[in-house]
Amino acid sequence: MEEKTTIKEAFTELAPRYEKVVDKELQKFWGWSYENFIESLILNTKTIPGEHILDIATGTCLIPRRLIENKRQVMITGIDITHAMLKHGKDKIIKSGMDSNIYLATGDAMLMPFKRNSFELAMCGLATHHMNVSKLLGEVYRVLKPDGRFSLADVGGSSLWRKPIASFFIKILAYIYFLITENKDRAWAEATAVANVQTTDSWFEKLTKVGFTNIEIEKLPSKSFWVPDPLLIQATKPKYFPGEE
Ligand SMILES: C[S@@+](CC[C@H](N)C(=O)[O-])C[C@H]1O[C@@H](n2cnc3c(N)ncnc32)[C@H](O)[C@@H]1O
Repeated sequence: MEEKTTIKEAFTELAPRYEKVVDKELQKFWGWSYENFIESLILNTKTIPGEHILDIATGTCLIPRRLIENKRQVMITGIDITHAMLKHGKDKIIKSGMDSNIYLATGDAMLMPFKRNSFELAMCGLATHHMNVSKLLGEVYRVLKPDGRFSLADVGGSSLWRKPIASFFIKILAYIYFLITENKDRAWAEATAVANVQTTDSWFEKLTKVGFTNIEIEKLPSKSFWVPDPLLIQATKPKYFPGEE
């Protein structure tokens, strides 16, 4: 089955219970609550009142909701490939009365329906491992304005994760684990994500290749040495770049 179709099916089924399930998984693997993990991304992200932020793979929109609650005075567009995740996010936004500053779009982050140079800041939480990171970074770079920033939080594996044999066995283990604890679609979505997990070095390399500068990567504490670490990553699109007007 095509990877994007499996992701949509997995997250459509997961949408109504997503926040509870992800909280349980982050507590189990990292010792972080979901709320605290997203809060650490938000604290690590400088915003300027009035700027337009893109939240990539926004899911049920916790990042936009927390930004507004933090009184950042920004406009946020959230994009996600799974309509059901956005629908649950929209309900939460309406319930908390934040709908005037948050816009949502269904779409693929590797082919975004936005013009180049549209956003001052792009954010992404817990989602890059579901995508081809090079394609995603190319799109983020395109839609960011010159001097725009990219701030993300996700898993980062050791160099072992990039070795084909290890990656193959981790993929099988991930499939079995999520098949037992969840279901077939989630198991397949998480197993295929193994190949997309980056190391700090490959993050640095891929971000640099696309043209990002000022790259900062911070490993957050985790209680398990055998699962990929939680990472906070920041990078900037330069103000002037050869070939750009
Ligand atoms: C683990 S959830 C993270 C949601 C949210 N960012 C958060 O912090 O809770 C991963 C999300 O990535 C979305 N996703 C996966 N592939 C995508 C793609 N190619 N384009 C846009 N969204 C994608 C899924 O639909 C899902 O909502």
